[in-house]
Amino acid sequence: MHKLSQLQLFIAQFLTLLLGLVHAAPPTSCSQTPFPEVCIHFLDTAVNLEEITKLSFRDLVLKVTMDQAVRAHHLVSTMDFGSFDERAKLAWTDCQELYEDSVHQLNRSMSSNDPVDTQTWLSAAIANHQTCQNGFIDFNMSFYNLPSMLGNFSKLVRNSLAINKAAAAPTGLRSIKSDGRARRLLSDGFPEWVSSADRKLLQTGEAAAGADLVVAQDGSGNFKTITDALDAATKMRSGSKRFIIHVKKGVYNENIKVKKTMRNIMFVGDGISATVVTGSKNQQDGSTTFSSATFGKVH
Ligand SMILES: *[C@@H]1O[C@H](CO)[C@@H](O)[C@H](O)[C@H]1NC(C)=O
Ligand SMILES: *[C@@H]1O[C@H](CO)[C@@H](O)[C@H](O)[C@H]1NC(C)=O
Ligand SMILES: *[C@@H]1O[C@H](CO)[C@@H](O)[C@H](O)[C@H]1NC(C)=O
Repeated sequence: MHKLSQLQLFIAQFLTLLLGLVHAAPPTSCSQTPFPEVCIHFLDTAVNLEEITKLSFRDLVLKVTMDQAVRAHHLVSTMDFGSFDERAKLAWTDCQELYEDSVHQLNRSMSSNDPVDTQTWLSAAIANHQTCQNGFIDFNMSFYNLPSMLGNFSKLVRNSLAINKAAAAPTGLRSIKSDGRARRLLSDGFPEWVSSADRKLLQTGEAAAGADLVVAQDGSGNFKTITDALDAATKMRSGSKRFIIHVKKGVYNENIKVKKTMRNIMFVGDGISATVVTGSKNQQDGSTTFSSATFGKVH
């Protein structure tokens, strides 16, 4: 009798432990991911034994996904555009940039200890893939001949998101926008990734006063369009030193491309309703712009 209750207690504890694990633990095997067959395929073929013993399941999947990001970017950049028409060339050129950014997003995900940041960056990689795909849909080009490895790559990123999500969930307070990007606005209205020094700079108006370039539609600045100013900034700037572009009031109908090589460029407008940037090409919104540049307003 005594032995039996001990056994029951043991089973109860074991079950509690097991259930606890089921609830709290992140996935530890491919069968728990949304695309198990892709997970198994790439873990089997791409990972050596040494890595399997050294890395956690999450890190293994991230590493495999990163390797495929590099391969996807290579595939897209070495594609022979010769036989394509102009629209296809444009779409592929966009994809090239988008996959370059995805390599960067995956790379920073791998080296980050913050699962919430990682979730944002992985989401950016998914957004890049979709944007590449949309480029073809926009032009009514059939998509069926897109290399299958790109499809596999997007499944790997989705698996990574699912695995990382468990780690990201407990903080819970931050909301994720419908497009998957984390929205983290602080009480003063700035996104969290704007440093407190930068927030001060933007709030006091010093940024506008110390601008390296001024964009004004009436011709009173150095340039009339933000795109021209960005081009000039890329040439003028030495290294990756902070570069401030003051965008004076007006409505700028531009699709602004801020590449990751243009990091540390800060835009300062004349207030949220005075400087408005619109763009018709959805390719340029979201991840690539906002993860690499600061768009602030002067109060
Ligand atoms: C894509 O993944 C499948 C497994 O789901 C695999 O059989 C196939 O070889 C992969 N294709 C490429 C091009 O990697
Ligand atoms: C990944 O980031 C590291 C720096 O953190 C850099 O040295 C490395 O070249 C990057 N790899 C790729 C493929 O971009
Ligand atoms: C794509 O096709 C739709 C109708 O099928 C048409 O309305 C649209 O103008 C086309 N777009 C382009 C860029 O050809």
